[in-house]
Amino acid sequence: MGNNNPQVKRTVTTLRKMKQDGEKIVMLTAYDSSFARVADEQGVDVILVGDSLGMTMQGRETTIPVSVDDLIYHTSCVSRVNKHALVLADLPFMGYTSPEMALRNSARLMQESYAHMVKLEGGAPQVETVKQLTFHGVPVCAHLGLQPQSVHKLGGYRVQGRDAAAAQQMIDDSLALQDAGADMLVLECVPVSLADTITEKLDIPVIGIGAGGGCDGQVLVLHDMLGITPRAPRFSRDFMAAGDGTIPGSVKAYIDAVKDGSFPAEEHCFA
Ligand code: KIV
Repeated sequence: MGNNNPQVKRTVTTLRKMKQDGEKIVMLTAYDSSFARVADEQGVDVILVGDSLGMTMQGRETTIPVSVDDLIYHTSCVSRVNKHALVLADLPFMGYTSPEMALRNSARLMQESYAHMVKLEGGAPQVETVKQLTFHGVPVCAHLGLQPQSVHKLGGYRVQGRDAAAAQQMIDDSLALQDAGADMLVLECVPVSLADTITEKLDIPVIGIGAGGGCDGQVLVLHDMLGITPRAPRFSRDFMAAGDGTIPGSVKAYIDAVKDGSFPAEEHCFA
């Protein structure tokens, strides 16, 4: 039975094997039991309980107010019904300002809400934290490119890594995070050629969002791909409009489009 079979439980090992075999990995956010059940039953490989819940669940402008307790609550709802997907939970803004704090909050996410992996934003400055989490048996997904928790520092939601120095920094950061023990990398809003280079250089799976079709997999925010976000980002597609008009059908259409390489298309990418 191949990794493509949604009945196979997703782990860091199966995800890495999918990269080696060239099987695309599908990640989708979910924040509650009903949508998590649909995502899991349709065959999503990784359910991300992202801090995008600040916008999708709480009606906020940014991810910044989201707390570790919010993430624990929503991750618990997802884990309760999930059977096969790997459950990835975000560490929130200011939730990992030291390795000790990252360990404490990751322990809570794993012990209280059964997350299988945690995600944190940032490059070289996070290397020590990733090392400590790895040493203590916490699977880690790093997040480079557009880092929404730094939106005020960045001055808006913008494509990252466009000039040569920033691109080289991102390549160096991704290698350093992998060496530190990261198990997966999310690349958000980066030029296709840079995402392709990073994906080729790394042994761990690279999951893109606005990073082109060359990544090992794709992630979208559930509400964007269902077409219910007031202003969906350019890198998303409305799979409700494209599919059979049902929520399970839309999730299945997204999975199929990632697996067969038809999503993302050129209009979802940045140069
Ligand atoms: O919080 C989130 O949903 C995310 C994705 C945009 C990757 O981090």
